[in-house]
Amino acid sequence: MKILILGIDGYIGWPLALRLIARGHEVSGADSFFTRERVREVNSDSITPIVSMEDRLQKLYQLWKKKIEFHKGDVSDPEFVYDLIKKIKPDAIVHLAEQRSAPYSMLGLKQATDTLTKNMIGTLNLVYAMKDIIPESHLLKLGTMGEYGTPNIDIPEGFFEIEYKDRKDFLPFPKFAGSWYHWSKVHDTNNLMFANKLWNLRITDVMQGVVYGTRTKEIEETDLYTRFDIDEVWGTALNRFCTQAVLDEPITPYGKGFQRRGFLSLEDSISCLTIGLEKPPEHGEYRVFNQFDEHYSVNELAEITSSTARDILNKRGKIEHVENPRIEKEEHYYNPEHSKLKALGYERKRALKEEIILMLKDIEKFKGKADNLRGVIKPKTVWKNSPGLDK
Ligand SMILES: NC(=O)c1ccc[n+]([C@@H]2O[C@H](COP(=O)([O-])OP(=O)(O)OC[C@H]3O[C@@H](n4cnc5c(N)ncnc54)[C@H](O)[C@@H]3O)[C@@H](O)[C@H]2O)c1
Repeated sequence: MKILILGIDGYIGWPLALRLIARGHEVSGADSFFTRERVREVNSDSITPIVSMEDRLQKLYQLWKKKIEFHKGDVSDPEFVYDLIKKIKPDAIVHLAEQRSAPYSMLGLKQATDTLTKNMIGTLNLVYAMKDIIPESHLLKLGTMGEYGTPNIDIPEGFFEIEYKDRKDFLPFPKFAGSWYHWSKVHDTNNLMFANKLWNLRITDVMQGVVYGTRTKEIEETDLYTRFDIDEVWGTALNRFCTQAVLDEPITPYGKGFQRRGFLSLEDSISCLTIGLEKPPEHGEYRVFNQFDEHYSVNELAEITSSTARDILNKRGKIEHVENPRIEKEEHYYNPEHSKLKALGYERKRALKEEIILMLKDIEKFKGKADNLRGVIKPKTVWKNSPGLDK
């Protein structure tokens, strides 16, 4: 299959490219290097060594004699998207190329506007280019489990049957996101459903849980790492906890720590996305996957990180709760369904504890870099103080 990965330079894009190439697909990719640049703006960096795209592709060719065609550009630029799609005419497009940090979107009005407009415009450019140039291709788009929020009822996979005043319908489940970033994904979802209704496009909308881990089997084979962020803006809770444990700093859950979310390993995320591509929806179908493996509370993550770091690295693993910078429920019901990927053949390969061991070992390997970034781990971005126009 000819597959175009938008956001190929990112945490998920790079290992997905390696997996798809290894499975014999023809892979091309695009990226604006937005994440590399914005992470530097908060004085941070990936602690795993990520070489330039040019060097990644050169090394890949030396190792596997396989080529990936790469184009630098921004998917919020319609000319770039139309030219790219006309040139490549892919059978499937994986759309990962969005601003993906909740704290970044809460830094202030500029970042909120940037996130909402760029993310939505990129997705709109794509669906228009698809209907004009490749109406039979498949769009696999990354949304997030965070679109649903934390309702006090079970969360279905996208749609649910509802009865109201004696009448029934099958409708999209209501969304209640917790940051401008998450709302940008909700707006994308609405636009994708409408594009599917208008033009019968084939679309998979992936509500992905939080992804953790530093390795996939192809990363292990090639030593071509993907990025791993540890700062309060770009690093997820588990990335920060593992880094704090390695640095022998206290592990810092936000607030009471009973916030519960869905998680899956990088290896499993890549397997799920591969299944989604190799088993595409029917012509005219819009489908939703809830893509996660298990749900954990922040406290459970902190505790398992702490005990693993004590056992394997002889660290202190101290846990110290800090004031929650976010506006979110700290104790809530959480029970999302996730059966569609399993029905298509997905089976978990890496469990949480096993992956935490690998993450701790990798962070220990790059401890010097993590050490230099100690100052960017603790929270500074406070949701309710998000500043407006700086006069
Ligand atoms: N990593 C997770 O835990 C997770 C969870 C849920 C959803 N997602 C979603 O999955 C996707 C990929 O996430 P990731 O963790 O790999 O993020 P990432 O930031 O590491 O990768 C995204 C890539 O897209 C590029 N990009 C961003 N905006 C672009 C634009 N307008 N034009 C061209 N390139 C652009 C970035 O430079 C980056 O290389 C994102 O849409 C994210 O919202 C990620």
